[in-house]
Amino acid sequence: MSNVTIRGARSEDLNRIAEVEAICFPALEAAPLEAFKERLAAFPENFILAEADGIVIGFINGCATNRAVIHDELFHSTQHHIPAGANLAIFGLVVIPEYRNQGIAAELMNHFIQLARNTNRRSIILTSKEKLVHYYESFGYVNKGLSASTTGGAQWFDMTLVL
Ligand SMILES: CC(C)(COP(=O)(O)OP(=O)(O)OC[C@H]1O[C@@H](n2cnc3c(N)ncnc32)[C@H](O)[C@@H]1OP(=O)(O)O)[C@@H](O)C(=O)NCCC(=O)NCCS
Repeated sequence: MSNVTIRGARSEDLNRIAEVEAICFPALEAAPLEAFKERLAAFPENFILAEADGIVIGFINGCATNRAVIHDELFHSTQHHIPAGANLAIFGLVVIPEYRNQGIAAELMNHFIQLARNTNRRSIILTSKEKLVHYYESFGYVNKGLSASTTGGAQWFDMTLVL
């Protein structure tokens, strides 16, 4: 496996972050560069990257909230970020195709879980497509059923990891 480092995101990573997002998601679901600029400014402490040989190959990020499940407005404005919120809401977990199936997303997720524990959050919430429900369950997330989210016109499931 390549030399993979997990580290916090910085503003000079933003163009590459948007590029990695566009590689990993269909156009309707991919967040644009402007959204990443806002997110990194609002919650840099919740923005973690995987880097291989000096190049960003994946990331995980999310805001804090008191809500128990994700609603789409969370994705649309960082005004909904409540720094002392009880829960962390994951906006995205991505790894580019060439580096998949090596446990890199799992490393990112485990760092995020540790971050949530270190900041005394009650739980982590996310929305998952059906095909990844089993993957998140492997970290202890519980499937709470169909989400109200309609991001990208897709069907999503609410998942919660109680810490
Ligand atoms: C979902 C995604 C982040 C997973 O990234 P990844 O780095 O491949 O994830 P992991 O390596 O941790 O796990 C993927 C699979 O590889 C397996 N795996 C982990 N380490 C492995 C290793 N060393 N050798 C072989 N397989 C391994 C995992 O068990 C998992 O198997 P499963 O699908 O049967 O559960 C990536 O596919 C992606 O970016 N997809 C597009 C964007 C997306 O849908 N993101 C999630 C919604 S926000």
